[in-house]
Amino acid sequence: MAASLLPLLLFSLFFLLNPPSTTANLHKVSNLLRSQLLSQPKPHRDTPPIRFFEVTKPIKVPKTKPCSSLVLQHDFGYTYGKPPVLAPYSPPAHCPSQNFSKIVLEWSATCKGRQFDRIFGVWLGGVELLRSCTAEPTATGIVWTVKKDVTRYYSLLMKEETLAVYLGNVVDKTYTGVYHVNVTFHFYPAAKNSEKLASGYGSWADLILPISRNLPLNDGLWFEIENSTDLEVKKFKIPRNAYRAVLEVYLSFHENDEFWYSNPPNDYISANNLTGTPGNGPFREVLVGLDGKLVGAVWPFTVIYTGGVNPLLWRPITGIGSFDLPSYNIEITPFLGKILDGKTHTFEFSVTNALNVWYIDANLHIWLDHKSTQTEGRLLGHGSGSSLSTSTLYMKGLNASFLTLSSRSISSTGWVKSSHGKMTTQSIQEFKYINLMVMGNDGDLQTVNQTIHFNDGVYTKFPYSFSYSINSSKLFPLYLYSDNVDRGNGTYLSLANVTLGFNEERSNSAGSSFSKTFLENLQTGQGSMIIKNNLVSSGLGSTQEVYNYGCPKFCYFRNVSSSNYTILYDTVSSSCRRRPQSQLDISHGKFYSIPARKVFLTSDLREDEKGV
Ligand SMILES: *[C@@H]1O[C@H](CO)[C@@H](O)[C@H](O)[C@H]1NC(C)=O
Ligand SMILES: *[C@@H]1O[C@H](CO)[C@@H](O)[C@H](O)[C@H]1NC(C)=O
Ligand SMILES: *[C@@H]1O[C@H](CO)[C@@H](O)[C@H](O)[C@H]1NC(C)=O
Ligand SMILES: *[C@@H]1O[C@H](CO)[C@@H](O)[C@H](O)[C@H]1NC(C)=O
Ligand SMILES: *[C@@H]1O[C@H](CO)[C@@H](O)[C@H](O)[C@H]1NC(C)=O
Ligand SMILES: *[C@@H]1O[C@H](CO)[C@@H](O)[C@H](O)[C@H]1NC(C)=O
Ligand SMILES: *[C@@H]1O[C@H](CO)[C@@H](O)[C@H](O)[C@H]1NC(C)=O
Ligand SMILES: *[C@@H]1O[C@H](CO)[C@@H](O)[C@H](O)[C@H]1NC(C)=O
Ligand SMILES: *[C@@H]1O[C@H](CO)[C@@H](O)[C@H](O)[C@H]1NC(C)=O
Ligand SMILES: *[C@@H]1O[C@H](CO)[C@@H](O)[C@H](O)[C@H]1NC(C)=O
Ligand SMILES: *[C@@H]1O[C@H](CO)[C@@H](O)[C@H](O)[C@H]1NC(C)=O
Repeated sequence: MAASLLPLLLFSLFFLLNPPSTTANLHKVSNLLRSQLLSQPKPHRDTPPIRFFEVTKPIKVPKTKPCSSLVLQHDFGYTYGKPPVLAPYSPPAHCPSQNFSKIVLEWSATCKGRQFDRIFGVWLGGVELLRSCTAEPTATGIVWTVKKDVTRYYSLLMKEETLAVYLGNVVDKTYTGVYHVNVTFHFYPAAKNSEKLASGYGSWADLILPISRNLPLNDGLWFEIENSTDLEVKKFKIPRNAYRAVLEVYLSFHENDEFWYSNPPNDYISANNLTGTPGNGPFREVLVGLDGKLVGAVWPFTVIYTGGVNPLLWRPITGIGSFDLPSYNIEITPFLGKILDGKTHTFEFSVTNALNVWYIDANLHIWLDHKSTQTEGRLLGHGSGSSLSTSTLYMKGLNASFLTLSSRSISSTGWVKSSHGKMTTQSIQEFKYINLMVMGNDGDLQTVNQTIHFNDGVYTKFPYSFSYSINSSKLFPLYLYSDNVDRGNGTYLSLANVTLGFNEERSNSAGSSFSKTFLENLQTGQGSMIIKNNLVSSGLGSTQEVYNYGCPKFCYFRNVSSSNYTILYDTVSSSCRRRPQSQLDISHGKFYSIPARKVFLTSDLREDEKGV
């Protein structure tokens, strides 16, 4: 059993047509993991479909009656390797008002039988609106709904476009689950005389350009990044009267990098002659380049898909972000001066230490100066610094511990002159990462304790001393304990505990108005399974989640737990609670409120030699 380390986590596989055949080791384990899903404990036959859900705050919508249109209804059977499913989209013509203050995308789906978790994407005119993972069905059927506020895509949603959904599903004698899906848009008219609608600096963009692959494709509109040197490039051109631009990056990680944060260093793999164990250590970052210059990075939240670690953990409470994977904004405004020339430019994506495979694409949100045909701009300063180190604290055979530390900062400043005046924008990103990985029991046991700090800020100064700023501090803690006990005769006891947190504190200011919001979302889970002759003879998953969101106008709190498919308790409240400091802390609270982003001057930073 010794060599079975790490692939133990590989419960969630998206590509099952050809199980990895490179090594006996991974092959064996994937077969083991694959078959366990066939005999998972199931609720009784007469039970109605279970509703799976991700805990998240409700979308605040106005009290007006929405205009809704079902844009796509499709049964995703054997769709793997086929082109995305397309549907014509047109803005709602039948609505009495054409001014909407909120637009919501609703994905609702049912499935019955056996099926794996499948990643999928929803694009409109090549612009990604939703990245998500399906729920794994049961014999009696499941149902789930994802609602997403897509108001930021307003300008795009007012055009005739093609909607594309790629969901690579495999249906055969064994994997019988067909996903029955509806995609609906709900347009909420603005309440009269209340909400003011306007595109404008702090609001939705005038134009959104897809930074994705072009149709026709048989595997989604995302770029696929297969290794650490893979650089995916997209050409684009922007109108010459842009005055602000933000790149929204969507990403997900799969196969050998689905559990990248648990991948051991290559030294460990080679010292133990392991084959088929995904390596490259546990650190990954997505780097975004503009014409070859590093403009931003994403240190991804560790989404665990619905089949990940132990599928019984995610029934019916699914993992944070699994039904609506986070996207990440990178401010491009400081660089506008370089791309306002009406010529073609490129965005480049790469992933440090990547193994096969990362799905990445982006949307470029652009604000246009309606009073001029040409704006101008200039990059004033730009710099990036980074560090990455892995120390082997202990290594004896398959028992080992590793500490990986990393940090990065990226800063850029530039001005843009438009009819709004000369506006100076500074964008800063700061990251810190720590990962302690311990292997014991000759490789059958693994713990991972990782924390990512991801802070970014954008400060814009307009003439007349008006300024606008967004500061966001994100903290992503992850703790994983995974133990596989060989009980002889092909019987294993698999134990896994998970702690997964998504915390964000965000402050916005526009002139003299200031607002602060926070989110604390923490899941803990305990799973066990007994696997005999590749079949699960018994298993139990329990999950607890506390979600605490607060902003000046609205609070949402939920405390919910499930075990063995049953909700044990569920408390929902809209009363505001204080953010308990302790959960966010790492090293005695020093990191969470990184006291202000330092204002970097180009001279303070060495130009990142690595670049992209
Ligand atoms: C909708 O907004 C436009 C300007 O954006 C305005 O001219 C029009 O009167 C508004 N219509 C309604 C029904 O509010
Ligand atoms: C999809 O919409 C159709 C028609 O409204 C409805 O009959 C069906 O139940 C819906 N399916 C799902 C999965 O929501
Ligand atoms: C990395 O992936 C790219 C794109 O598939 C491929 O062309 C290249 O050969 C790969 N490099 C290595 C070292 O495997
Ligand atoms: C790894 O393989 C080499 C060469 O075959 C061998 O000398 C070494 O003992 C092996 N190490 C382990 C830990 O199996
Ligand atoms: C690895 O650790 C286990 C206890 O966790 C111990 O029984 C075993 O002997 C150790 N193996 C080596 C090679 O030190
Ligand atoms: C994870 O590491 C942090 C320090 O980085 C520590 O405070 C925390 O207790 C550890 N968590 C677990 C479950 O060991
Ligand atoms: C393993 O299976 C064999 C045959 O079924 C049986 O004789 C033996 O007692 C079993 N061993 C254990 C440890 O269960
Ligand atoms: C896993 O969770 C269970 C239940 O909370 C607990 O009893 C056990 O000690 C945990 N194990 C580890 C290694 O954290
Ligand atoms: C959540 O509910 C459980 C069970 O009622 C309780 O023990 C726990 O303290 C609650 N957690 C919070 C943060 O309110
Ligand atoms: C889970 O629930 C099923 C049916 O509701 C029951 O038969 C089974 O014993 C439960 N499992 C555990 C470990 O409690
Ligand atoms: C964001 O951080 C900067 C630098 O510390 C500070 O000057 C600015 O006031 C902050 N903005 C908000 C809205 O908190």
